[in-house]
Amino acid sequence: MIELEVNGVLREIDMPLDTPLLWVIRDGLRLAGTKFGCGMGLCGACTVHLDGQPVRSCLTPLSSAEGRRVTTIEGLGDGSSVATLHPVQQAWIEASVTQCGYCQSGQIMAAVALVDANPDPSDAEIDRALAGNLCRCGTYPRIRAAVRRAAELKRRGEAVVQTWDPAVAVAPVGGLPA
Ligand code: FES
Ligand code: FES
Repeated sequence: MIELEVNGVLREIDMPLDTPLLWVIRDGLRLAGTKFGCGMGLCGACTVHLDGQPVRSCLTPLSSAEGRRVTTIEGLGDGSSVATLHPVQQAWIEASVTQCGYCQSGQIMAAVALVDANPDPSDAEIDRALAGNLCRCGTYPRIRAAVRRAAELKRRGEAVVQTWDPAVAVAPVGGLPA
């Protein structure tokens, strides 16, 4: 049994220490926002943060996360409600980035790390930082636009107010991907 800080909350994890962090998050903690894509570090769908740095959770054993801060897509914003979005989430909505959505939590986690480190990334810097995050729907142009907009929101330091109403949001037939 080890303690793990996930999205600011200490959680007790009773899983083998070599369990990939991806399965700790999804199966152990029931946080389904982080996706399984390739399981080999090739697609970026499983990207989470360890101490603010993006990592491939499919390749990260539970043992190496002990004593470090784990942040998943569910931990962005201030976590108090869906009305308090991270600037990257807000920019993603404004640019209507998402298509099927499967890669998007990984893309967003990579983008958050980028705008945290670089307040005004160029397109080349965006492409380089997100090169390991693949999108089979080809949303790359909208991702670039959204990252630039997120950086702008962050530089201005304005409060982020959501531009959509979850009460009227419509889930696709069959529900959101788990
Ligand atoms: S599932 Fe981890 S990189 Fe693809
Ligand atoms: S939005 Fe479909 S894989 Fe990226």
